[in-house]
Order: sequence, then structure tokens, then C-alpha cells
Amino acid sequence: MGWCAHSGNHRLLIPLLLFFFYLFSFYPLAFSKLSSPQFEVMSNLSRIIPSSDLSWNSTEDPCRWEGVTCSRNNSSVIELSLSGLSLASHNILPVICQIGSLQVLDLSDNNLGSLPAEFITSCGKIGGLKRLNFSRNALVGPLPSFTSFVGLEVLDLSYNKMSGSIGSELDGLVKLKSLNLSMNVFNGSVPVNLSKVLEELQLSVNRFEGEIPEGVADYRNLVLLDLSVNRLSGKIPDSLANTKTLSRFSANQNNFGGPIPIGLTRFLKILDLSYNNLSGSIPPDLLSQPNLLRVDLSYNHLKGLIPKNISPNMLRLRLGSNSLNGAVPPELGKCRSLALLNLAQNKLTGPLPPELGNLSRIQVMELQLNNINGTIPGQITQLGSLAQLNISWNLLTGTIPSSLPNLRSLTNLNLQHNYLNGSIPAAIGSLPGLLELQLGKNHLSGDIPTMPLSLQIVLNLSSNLFVGTIPATFSQLSRLEILDLSDNQFSGSVPALFTEMVALTQLILSNNYLSGVIPEFRQTVVVEASGNKDLINWTAPSPAAKQKRKRNSVPVLLLTALASSVFAALFVSAVVNISIEKLLRRHR
Ligand SMILES: *[C@@H]1O[C@H](CO)[C@@H](O)[C@H](O)[C@H]1NC(C)=O
Ligand SMILES: *[C@@H]1O[C@H](CO)[C@@H](O)[C@H](O)[C@H]1NC(C)=O
Ligand SMILES: *[C@@H]1O[C@H](CO)[C@@H](O)[C@H](O)[C@H]1NC(C)=O
Ligand SMILES: *[C@@H]1O[C@H](CO)[C@@H](O)[C@H](O)[C@H]1NC(C)=O
Ligand SMILES: *[C@@H]1O[C@H](CO)[C@@H](O)[C@H](O)[C@H]1NC(C)=O
Ligand SMILES: *[C@@H]1O[C@H](CO)[C@@H](O)[C@H](O)[C@H]1NC(C)=O
Repeated sequence: MGWCAHSGNHRLLIPLLLFFFYLFSFYPLAFSKLSSPQFEVMSNLSRIIPSSDLSWNSTEDPCRWEGVTCSRNNSSVIELSLSGLSLASHNILPVICQIGSLQVLDLSDNNLGSLPAEFITSCGKIGGLKRLNFSRNALVGPLPSFTSFVGLEVLDLSYNKMSGSIGSELDGLVKLKSLNLSMNVFNGSVPVNLSKVLEELQLSVNRFEGEIPEGVADYRNLVLLDLSVNRLSGKIPDSLANTKTLSRFSANQNNFGGPIPIGLTRFLKILDLSYNNLSGSIPPDLLSQPNLLRVDLSYNHLKGLIPKNISPNMLRLRLGSNSLNGAVPPELGKCRSLALLNLAQNKLTGPLPPELGNLSRIQVMELQLNNINGTIPGQITQLGSLAQLNISWNLLTGTIPSSLPNLRSLTNLNLQHNYLNGSIPAAIGSLPGLLELQLGKNHLSGDIPTMPLSLQIVLNLSSNLFVGTIPATFSQLSRLEILDLSDNQFSGSVPALFTEMVALTQLILSNNYLSGVIPEFRQTVVVEASGNKDLINWTAPSPAAKQKRKRNSVPVLLLTALASSVFAALFVSAVVNISIEKLLRRHR
């Protein structure tokens, strides 16, 4: 009653009520500087997105939410990163596209199945949108037209299942710097007429076919061109040699043919042309450019000599599985940075140059399957970083250098299929990390030294000239999985201690002069012992085996149990019979 009587109070009341109404309805705006439409969009999003992985607190400023980045004064959202949330419904896309200030949208690593037309029309209107990442989703169908996304700089659609050929869908993206369509099933020709400022073009693992368009030479800022694992053919265009910015060019696993253009590596750091049909010889300048770090030309049809002039900065050089001939160039020794050298499976002849001993950083050296002859130069044992050395399947003669144990980093040594003679270096046991030792098919003989306890993958002494008893010390190789001693002249018995080699899965003893009984191994060990005519197999029916069976076989135990119970039953019934008879006798 009193309220209405005082008109002065009434005049105050309305603004007061309005203030409270404002406070309650727009309460969040009291702490967020976001414009109210953007706040609303963010609230909507927080309701749509399954919250399990995101800790979006609705009573907090959306600019503080995980994956949300706002402009410097917090007035608008500029980045949205919703990666790895198992998002499957594309309904969120039109909502996101209401954020007109968006510059970066990362939806990678979700389960989105398509980019609907609403997304293209609404997000296509956001002039400031620079980066779109839909990598690692389940997108199918053809590439939608992105032509309206005029501000786009980065488009990542890699690791999806998009298909079809690419025509004008990327036309007009004049700011596009990076396009990644790798790991899809796109076909047709390599997209052309992309932005003149393109820096990265990644198309690997698709079904692109035809030739590399001459237009790639027009991308004057191109840094990375990855065309690997497609169905491209033709020649590698000469014009690529003129792109000063190009740092990495990968075209491996295609059907490129013809010779490698001269000057191709003038500006490159990384070149991968492996698994193609390239022919001709390696251009003399190809490996010499000081900018070069990695070259892979393996699995082609290249012939001729390995160029002598090789960049001292080279880190990895792979020329394997070609038809290169001539000798291993001694100049390789100047590649002081080289960590990996693969010249395997060529037609290289002549001896190994001692200069290889200067490759102080080398970790992997693969020279197998050539016709390299002469002896193993002792200098090779100076390579303190060498982990894997494979010179198998060559024509090497002479002995294994006694300084071999200097190779402190050695893990895999493969010298099989050569003509090496003499004995295994006595100190080999001191190699701290050797996992695999392949010495099969040589002419090795003499005392077998203690082997490195680290051996794990295989110890293979097969097809050599070893005589005498098998060293019982092998049984200390508790990590060894495969021991192959076949095709030697070992005699005496198989050491019983071998059954204690806990990691052993395969023991190959065939074609020796072993005798006695093969000790009993766990069932997981496969023992091959044929071709030892005095060796007795315990599992085959033999007196020893029969005795074992008598001692502890299950049927014997079962029979015993059965017999006892039958006996017990007979005894009980006999007793009962006697008692009944007694009873009857009494009654009579
Ligand atoms: C949400 O934020 C408010 C204010 O900072 C805080 O009090 C509350 O505990 C938060 N809730 C959760 C679930 O983190
Ligand atoms: C913007 O929001 C962030 C996160 O809530 C905060 O740390 C920062 O101080 C805010 N900046 C301005 C200018 O309000
Ligand atoms: C897209 O996101 C993935 C992670 O999901 C990331 O590895 C990739 O680098 C991103 N692409 C770009 C162009 O930033
Ligand atoms: C060495 O070369 C042989 C023959 O090609 C191959 O089977 C083996 O895997 C190679 N071993 C190592 C350790 O590189
Ligand atoms: C051991 O070396 C011989 C001769 O090189 C080879 O034939 C055999 O397959 C090798 N054994 C194992 C188990 O690798
Ligand atoms: C021993 O004989 C058994 C049974 O005939 C056979 O399965 C096994 O392969 C033989 N083992 C060897 C090492 O010959």
C-alpha cells in the first residue's frame, strides 16, 4: 500500500528493475568482453560439443576455454582448436561459421564425414579465415569448391578418404601458401594454377596420375613438393631445377622414367626419387651441392659410376638397388657428416676403400649384394658410431680384422656369403651391444671365442669350416633367439646346458657330425638336427623316450587310478557279500 503512495520511489523503481533484468539476462557479459552474438555462438557450441574431453566452464569467459583463442582485447574469437574430440556430426560446422572473426579453425583428428554445403557457404564468407585443418577425419567424396575462401593460406585435408579429381575447386585462393591433400584417394592430374605464393604442396599417397605439370615451376616460393606414392609418370621436369626456394622434393614410389635432370639439386636439401623407373647415370653434379643433406635414388634403373664429387654435408645417401658399377669411390671418405650410406644391390666391383674409415659419424653402412672383392680394410673398425654394417653377399676374402671389437656401437654385423677365412676375432665378446651376428657361408675356422652376451636376434655360423665340439659357453647367451650352427663339422654332443637358453626359439644343428642324444628343449624351441647320423632324437620312439613315458605319462597314472578303484570296488563288494552270507546263515 505504502509503495504505490510514494510516486518518487516509483520513478526510481523502473530503472532499478531494468538494471537487475539486464544483470540477470546478460549476466555473462558482465565478465566477458566478447560481443553478445559471439558469446551466444560459443555458448551454443559448448552445448553441442560432447563435453567429456573439454573442460569448458560456462560460468567462465569463453576466451579462457581450452582451444579458444581471442583477439588481443578479448573482444572476438580468432582461433578455435577442436582437435581430437571424436566429433562426428558436421552440425557444428555452420555454428562455428557464425564466428565472423575466425582466422584459424583446427578440427583435425575427429570423425567428421563430410564438409556440407552450409559450411562452404557460411565459412566461405569469413574473409579473415586463414587456416583450415581437417586432417585425420573421415571425409569422403570429392573436394568441395573452396573458391570463396579468398583469405585462405593453409588448407590441410590430409588423412581422409576424399576422392575424385581436382579441377577448379582451389582457383582464386590467391593467398594459399600450404595445401596438404596427402593420404586420400584423389585421382586425375596434379592440381595446377594454384596461388603464386604457394610454399608447400603435399599430395603424397593418392592416385594422382599423368605428368608433373610444367606449372609447378611458376610457384616461385615453393619450399616443399611431395608427390610420393602416386601413379605419376613422365620425366622429372628440368624446370624444377630453377626453383631457388625448393628445399624438399619427394617423388618416390611413382612411375617416373628417363634420366634425372642436370642441376636438380642446385637448391635442394632433400631429394627422394626412390622406387621409380629412372634410367641413365647419376648426373655428375647431383650429389655435390653443399646444400644437400639427404638423397634417395634407390630402386631405380640407374647405371654407370657413383659420382666422385659428394657434398661433405650429406647426412643420408641411398643409391641401393640400381645397376651402378665401378668401385665404391674413395672420395666418400670426405663425407664427414654422413650417418647413412646404402649402396646395396648394385654391380659395384673392386675393393672397399680404406677411406671409408674416415666416416666418423656413420651409423648405417649397407654394401651388401655387390661384387666387392679384396679384404675388409682394418680402417673400417675406426667407425665408433657404426651400428649396422652389412657387407654380405660380396666377394670379400682375407680375415675379419682383429680390431673389429673397436666398433663399440655395433648392433648388427652381417658378413655372410663371402670368402672370409681365418678365425673370429678373439675379443668379439667385448662388443657391448651386438644383437645380430651373421657370419654364415664363409670359410671361417679355428677356435670360436666367447660371444657378446648382448646377442639377441641371431648368431649364425652356418656353412663354415668349424670343427670340434660346440662351445658350451653359447648357453650363456640368455637373450639369443636363433642359433644356426648348420653345415659345419661340429662333433661331440649337443651341450645339455643349451636347454637353459631361455630366449631360444630356433636351434639349427643340421649337417654336422654331432652324436649323442639331443637334450630335451621346451616346446617353443624348434630344433633342426637332420644330417647328423649319430645324433639321437629323444622324442622319436627310443629306449630313452619309452622310459620317460613310463615314469610320468598321464595314461599310466590314469590306469593306476582306475585299477585301484576297481580293486577297491571289488574288495567292498566282497566284504558286503561275506556279511550278507553271514546274516543269512544266522537266520537259517
Ligand atoms: C567454473 O568456474 C567457476 C568460476 O571460476 C568456479 O567457481 C567453478 O568451480 C568452475 N567449475 C568447474 C566445474 O570447474
Ligand atoms: C584476455 O583473456 C585472457 C584469458 O582470460 C586474460 O589472461 C587476459 O588478461 C585478457 N586480456 C584482456 C586485454 O582483457
Ligand atoms: C593439422 O593438425 C594435425 C594434428 O591433428 C597436425 O599434425 C598438422 O600439422 C596440422 N596441419 C597444419 C597445416 O598445421
Ligand atoms: C643385410 O643384407 C641382407 C641381404 O640383402 C639382408 O637380408 C639383411 O636383412 C641385411 N641385414 C642388415 C642388418 O642390414
Ligand atoms: C644362416 O646363414 C646361412 C648362410 O648365409 C643362411 O642360408 C641361413 O638362412 C641363415 N640362418 C638363419 C636362421 O638366418
Ligand atoms: C624328433 O622326432 C619327432 C617325432 O618324430 C619330430 O617331430 C621332431 O621334429 C624330431 N626332432 C628333430 C630335432 O629331428
